[in-house]
Amino acid sequence: MGARTKMPEPESERPDLRTAHVIVVANEKGGTGKSTLSINISIALLKAGFRVATIDLDTRQRTLTRFFENRHSWALTAPWEVELPFHAALDRGSSTDVRDNETTEFGAFAAAIADVEHSYEFVVIDTPASDSYLMRLAHSLADTLVSPVNDSFIDVDVFSRVHHDKTQRGQVAQYADLVLEARRKRKLVDQGIIDWVIVRNRMSSIHSNNAKQVNASLTRLATELRFRPAEGLHDRVIFRELFPIGLTALDPIEEAMRGGTLSASQSSARKEIDTLIDTLRLPERGRGFGHLQARHEWYERIARYYRDLGKTGTGY
Ligand SMILES: Nc1ncnc2c1ncn2[C@@H]1O[C@H](COP(=O)(O)OP(=O)(O)O)[C@@H](O)[C@H]1O
Ligand SMILES: [Mg+2]
Repeated sequence: MGARTKMPEPESERPDLRTAHVIVVANEKGGTGKSTLSINISIALLKAGFRVATIDLDTRQRTLTRFFENRHSWALTAPWEVELPFHAALDRGSSTDVRDNETTEFGAFAAAIADVEHSYEFVVIDTPASDSYLMRLAHSLADTLVSPVNDSFIDVDVFSRVHHDKTQRGQVAQYADLVLEARRKRKLVDQGIIDWVIVRNRMSSIHSNNAKQVNASLTRLATELRFRPAEGLHDRVIFRELFPIGLTALDPIEEAMRGGTLSASQSSARKEIDTLIDTLRLPERGRGFGHLQARHEWYERIARYYRDLGKTGTGY
């Protein structure tokens, strides 16, 4: 067996990794921080010098689209260089027929992906809190799936309890099923992996028993549902106050501040985003090797992680 695990996989059993690395930010629960994470992840990747495209699938709220519109306006007069991604926003289908709308939205999404998948290194997709055909499709395209969860033990407990009792499916259990189904499809279609990272968001700075329990539950569920838990972001004013001007904590906002320094909370926000990006373990091209090789290294690393997790988990 030992020798077998060291054997390289045959080419036919490997996914085609020549395209952009797709990061889908999703969770069927509303208001958990999907758009906030999409914004920060895209800006962090742009600042690291990657070619980034963003797609807003939330045709109702269009938060990501509004953020980039704000950022675009700011860029016109900004005293520093403001990075912008190639952004595509899906329009809402205007028909009274739900099926027609689904077809229109599906076509628009397929076109948006086709436009960017070969010319960008990363595609970041922000999604609405809903379950639809389009959402399922978006999930099955994800290389990295980022799901923000608010730091509430009740949420996680429901996630766990409901998962075991299939007769009482709640929002999050349904969502876990959606991800597991997307994973199965993905494996069948191109042998690809969906690396599912659950990110705690809006954590309180006060250390509490509750936070410890949330952490413990996520660690336990990680093996069962096969995701990776990540530390995530604390609840901080800076994560919401810069939205109207299209900026994030990563932008050189200290230049606009009196004294030119950041507050302790602002510098912590920056560190949290940096740590989050590290935790996502995304493919990073480096000196002497490009995007394709980075994607392959990412695949090996993540496949190994899930293989090892499979030895202890329930084997989804
Ligand atoms: N880490 C955070 N700190 C402070 N406010 C946050 C944080 N994350 C999200 N928010 C705020 O919570 C609300 C919901 O976040 P949003 O990103 O729009 O969630 P979703 O896209 O999942 O609906 C927004 O008002 C946002 O500014
Ligand atoms: Mg949103």
